[in-house]
Amino acid sequence: MGKLVALTLLGASLAFIGERLLTCRERMNASREVESVEPQSCHLIEGLEYGSEDIDILPSGLAFISSGLKYPGLPNFAPDEPGKIFLMDLNEQNPKAQALKISDGFDKELFNPHGISIFIDKDHTVYLYIVNHPHMKSTVEIFKFEEQERSLVYLETIKHELFTSLNDIVVLGPEQFYVTRDHYFNNFFLRLFEMILDLRWSSILFYSPIGVKVVAEGFSSANGITASPDQKYVYVADVAAKNIHIMEKHDNWDLTQLKVIPLGTLVDNLTVDPATGDILAGCHPNAMKLFIYNPEDPPGSEVLRIQNIFSEKPRVSTVYANNGSVLQGTSVASTYRGKILIGTVFHKALYCEL
Ligand SMILES: *[C@@H]1O[C@H](CO)[C@@H](O)[C@H](O)[C@H]1NC(C)=O
Ligand SMILES: *[C@@H]1O[C@H](CO)[C@@H](O)[C@H](O)[C@H]1NC(C)=O
Ligand SMILES: *[C@@H]1O[C@H](CO)[C@@H](O)[C@H](O)[C@H]1NC(C)=O
Repeated sequence: MGKLVALTLLGASLAFIGERLLTCRERMNASREVESVEPQSCHLIEGLEYGSEDIDILPSGLAFISSGLKYPGLPNFAPDEPGKIFLMDLNEQNPKAQALKISDGFDKELFNPHGISIFIDKDHTVYLYIVNHPHMKSTVEIFKFEEQERSLVYLETIKHELFTSLNDIVVLGPEQFYVTRDHYFNNFFLRLFEMILDLRWSSILFYSPIGVKVVAEGFSSANGITASPDQKYVYVADVAAKNIHIMEKHDNWDLTQLKVIPLGTLVDNLTVDPATGDILAGCHPNAMKLFIYNPEDPPGSEVLRIQNIFSEKPRVSTVYANNGSVLQGTSVASTYRGKILIGTVFHKALYCEL
């Protein structure tokens, strides 16, 4: 009798895991075809060959780009090169990307930048907050940007026991920021397990010098995070659930969910168009191809614009789409004065007119 129960339980768990595996495969839809959509006069950015995972643009048109991310399971074309932060001046006719110098006192060899966020203080000093993965751990690094020298001055590393599997960051005050944890576990196999079983243990943390707290949880895999221009709302991309969560920010920094916008494609990172307040989302139309990389059949790229976010029916349109022949694995897109800069996890970066 005991054996029968055990066998039934085993059968039931296998069926459960099988079902989850199938849904997981479907979610990562490797077979989805991508119809090409291209704005005008697009060109690839010289010097960005190994990823442009995150982009943040200053109101003055200077763009910061994180490059060279090493992330378990994803391809990297320069595994021995440390990550870098590039700068581009989008006011130039043909902007070029230039790697920023980083001051001493920071371990540049271990630099593995992921999400970045700009903070400008009362004195107009520009700070860059960067999620870093030295030895695949997660820290937040703070740098001061020196515009004249085109360099980053290293200020501080923030560590915390809850800082595991960090992905993205949005800074809303001096040393006050939200970070997403895209997984609960740090170990690659446990992460895989977490994803296949869809445990929804991914969360958002709020950090201030007073402490760290979990402010929202229950995500499949919380990835990109950004704030509305008035900073009353926080937008979170749940990459595995293929949707965007619009969260209301409270005085105590807690977040409550206002609505969820389903997109039907894996959403990586989000930016807000400063001119319109629309959300731009970098998406992975056929994510399985990211993990099983084949240069003959590469992962595609997709950028969506979401208008009227707070209305009953937000409008979703495709700004850019490509089957991977030009651009592979988009993670982010950011606009500046009628132009759009599109970044990727491990591939190139594209600049187009809108
Ligand atoms: C996967 O892609 C194929 C081909 O484009 C499509 O027919 C199918 O509906 C997609 N499946 C899911 C779950 O999105
Ligand atoms: C996502 O985009 C925001 C806004 O540009 C940026 O601050 C952040 O670093 C990006 N994160 C990732 C993980 O690409
Ligand atoms: C991608 O599209 C281009 C034309 O836009 C086509 O020549 C190429 O064969 C396609 N590649 C794949 C892998 O489907």
